[in-house]
Amino acid sequence: MFSNLSNIAEGVDNAFLIILSIIFFFLIGLTVLLVVFIFRYRESKNPKATQIEGNNTLELLWTIIPLILVLGMFYFGWTSWKPLNSDPPKDAMVIKVTARMWNWSFEYENGKHTDTLYIPAGKPVALDMKALDVIHSLYIPAFRIKQDIIPGTPRKAWFIANSPGSYDLFCAEYCGLQHSYMLTSVEVKTSKEFDAWYIDTTQTVVVAASPQLAGKQIVQKYGCNACHSTDGTKIVGPSYKGIFGEEITVITGGKERIITVDEEYIRHSILEPDADVVKGYNKGLMITYRDQITEEEINLIIEYIKSLK
Ligand code: CUA
Repeated sequence: MFSNLSNIAEGVDNAFLIILSIIFFFLIGLTVLLVVFIFRYRESKNPKATQIEGNNTLELLWTIIPLILVLGMFYFGWTSWKPLNSDPPKDAMVIKVTARMWNWSFEYENGKHTDTLYIPAGKPVALDMKALDVIHSLYIPAFRIKQDIIPGTPRKAWFIANSPGSYDLFCAEYCGLQHSYMLTSVEVKTSKEFDAWYIDTTQTVVVAASPQLAGKQIVQKYGCNACHSTDGTKIVGPSYKGIFGEEITVITGGKERIITVDEEYIRHSILEPDADVVKGYNKGLMITYRDQITEEEINLIIEYIKSLK
């Protein structure tokens, strides 16, 4: 039940145990008292009620004791919340975390870019988090870490993972249709394994046999496939399958018009998603990728879409 997998876990578990103990003390105490009173003052004993005008000792006790209890709960809650939210140590490894509908991306100081969080055991890790569209919440249950990320407000959190292993990481704030897609993992490595992984930058460079395959990797990197299927299935946005070269009806500024899907249309849709929305789909669900994607990546995505006949 208890976790010692991160430096945060012990404090959170202690606060939880203390609050749970207080709750159980009252649950059991009040239930026992209730049963005793039912027997002691039952009807056949013919109890008589007496009027009491006030009792200073009792009133002080039932004010002071609960006050001490709730302040105690606050103290343990606060001291366990504080470490995660305090300033990270100077030597912490900073990882940029981006949450969007509906995937996570993690970016390392050397430019490595992943959809799974890789960290070394025993070293402080500082997460520099931002949400691009709606509120998401980074949740790593094994580490007892949960942090909401609100668009426009970057959020920091730091921790130390104690033991190598693979742990769940997911979004704990309902963020729309494919919220459940925001499930990935934290891979905690020994520092030797981590260093080997970290310096191996071949994985980040697109090493694909063809532009189509490279495009597919970019679609996965940005999580486009959470909303656009490649097999014709209708999800949140139009499927990529067979769309290139098709004549489609789009809504431009409230008016319908027919266009042919070409390179320019795809590029424009990535940069200005709400400009020409395909009829039957909703506006406002896709954010612009203008500041994230490169021109080269857009071209590779176009090559990939072309190949999906
Ligand atoms: Cu992001 Cu739920």
